[in-house]
Amino acid sequence: MTGKFLSLFASRKPQAVPPIWLMRQAGRYLPEYRATRQQAGSFLDLCYRSDLAEEVTLQPIRRYHFDASIVFADILLLPQALGQKLWFADGEGPRLEPISNPDGLSTDAFDQTLSPVYETIARLRRSLPEDVALIGFAGAPWTVASYMIAGRGTPDQAPAKRLLAQDRSAFMAIIDLLVAQSIDYLEAQVANGAQTLQIFESWAQSLTGADFEDVCIAPVKRIIAGLRARGVTVPIIGFPRAAQYDLTIYARETAIDALSVDQHVDLAALADRLSEDIIIQGNLDPDMLVKGGDALTKAIDHICDSLSDRRHIFNLGHGIVPQTPPDHVEYLVNYIRARGR
Ligand code: CP3
Repeated sequence: MTGKFLSLFASRKPQAVPPIWLMRQAGRYLPEYRATRQQAGSFLDLCYRSDLAEEVTLQPIRRYHFDASIVFADILLLPQALGQKLWFADGEGPRLEPISNPDGLSTDAFDQTLSPVYETIARLRRSLPEDVALIGFAGAPWTVASYMIAGRGTPDQAPAKRLLAQDRSAFMAIIDLLVAQSIDYLEAQVANGAQTLQIFESWAQSLTGADFEDVCIAPVKRIIAGLRARGVTVPIIGFPRAAQYDLTIYARETAIDALSVDQHVDLAALADRLSEDIIIQGNLDPDMLVKGGDALTKAIDHICDSLSDRRHIFNLGHGIVPQTPPDHVEYLVNYIRARGR
């Protein structure tokens, strides 16, 4: 049986109740995640232990019966598979040994390093309910490069922007490598059972104009064209978070099947201009899910009403935050499913 999520991509018709999943649906807001995470030892051990990564992917499905699951991994496993040192300092987020060109990187251990992710996907295809779609993912080259160059998360991606300005050819060589490896990585995820792919451009906001076109749009366009040329037909979702650029052009140029949008996007205005061929996903402020109550109900109604006449996937504008009460997630799912009928 094809579930709601994949059916939406296969047909032209809107659904009365949108399929639902949430970015970071496996995570620290769930006590059972915290327990498995502790069992694993570290966050990276959790990513590379297929049995435990499978378990935390399934946890939110058991609780909430979301219409899609996303394989538990991280966008920074890809630079690690290229030989860049990566570690997670507790409570501080990711750390990498910064680079300013691709010279020290190598693809020799790429597939071997990432094989546990492929194994997690293969396991999930056996253990997930048949009507729950399995999403694979990668970071978009700009976002991944911004971590590789700075060695950490930064508010404005200044180190990566500096390299782009000062040594464009070294910068672009990193991007080119990420494009090539993302195609391999995503193709292998599909070969192992991923039924949809999402490309996370979490730091789309820091580039504008021609830089956005060259560094955010063109690389994602090449990844998708590369996948299609290899016969990969699964739907692809793009998430250019907080992009300061016309999203309809982003969607058309990259050839994504669905556009995931952050909480600052005016949905009605976007829906007016975006081709009906492209599904809209996202937009609920993650802080609303922390708040709950009337404000949450109103925000859900606003999103569902704005998109009632087109294909829509319910999601957040960014990942769930750790302080989210699990009861609020349950309320959200029940409310959306009840209001549509
Ligand atoms: O449930 C899911 O969504 C699947 C798993 C997933 C994770 N990270 C798990 C994770 C996915 C899809 C990601 C993507 C990711 N990772 C992005 C793009 C999406 C976004 O949030 O913008 C980025 C930028 C990263 C890099 C990254 N990983 C950061 C900046 C952090 C620290 C932030 C934090 O919340 O602590 C991580 C760690 C991380 N990745 C956690 C999880 C559940 C929390 C780590 C922990 O459990 O200690």
